Amino acid sequence: MSDRRRKKISIAVDGPAGSGKSTVARRIAVELGLLYIDTGAMYRGITLKALRQGISLHNEAALARLAKETSLEFREMPDGSHHLFMDGEDVSEEIRSMPVNDGVSLVAAVKEVRAALVEKQQNLGARGGVVMDGRDIGTVVLPQAEWKFFLTASPQERARRRWRELKAKGLDVSLAEIEANIANRDEIDSTRKVNPLRPAADALFLDTTEMSIEEVVDWIKKKVGEDKTNVL
Ligand code: CDP
Repeated sequence: MSDRRRKKISIAVDGPAGSGKSTVARRIAVELGLLYIDTGAMYRGITLKALRQGISLHNEAALARLAKETSLEFREMPDGSHHLFMDGEDVSEEIRSMPVNDGVSLVAAVKEVRAALVEKQQNLGARGGVVMDGRDIGTVVLPQAEWKFFLTASPQERARRRWRELKAKGLDVSLAEIEANIANRDEIDSTRKVNPLRPAADALFLDTTEMSIEEVVDWIKKKVGEDKTNVL
């Protein structure tokens, strides 16, 4: 079979908030010519819609309905970045706000919400050629991915990274607020019954506390590049 007809590889990148996974996954996708899919953005989109509609984040039936009926689409912008469009509206900025940060893990713990979004994610990844980041990509969404990475860092470092990111965007948040949010999400994400945050048995684990983004990107590229059977 010629290389052109072989399915392109998929890469799963999982880890907690602030582990660097989104930045790293985006960079890897650009450098390897794969499509980047940010699954967290999808959970954030549903959370935003629920908040806007005044739906309680404890109302599981209403959240499940929202997840099923909402259109979520990633579109490429002229600068090459991908924005999330929810029911046709660009919500990329708003899904990063503190109210969404505070509510998203509750929404993501709902079984039917996960079922609806995992199905959308699997459709996006069905043809291969993706770098997908999240919490359950290696374990549930793309268990067949050729490469699985699990990134982490100390809670203090993860909070500092996220705080710097939000400050750079002009958001007025304190480091203590971010630390509390990250600790709370870590707890809910790793203890929930459905698809909790955990490394797949065959994932490569990397502690990025002392590493720069470049170093992490290079480490992953080296791993992927070492295997000559990969189709990029
Ligand atoms: O970027 P950050 O790590 O802060 O979060 P994210 O990747 O945008 O994900 C936001 C939240 O969505 C997480 O805290 C999880 O509660 C949930 N999530 C999930 O449950 N499963 C995924 N595959 C992705 C995100």
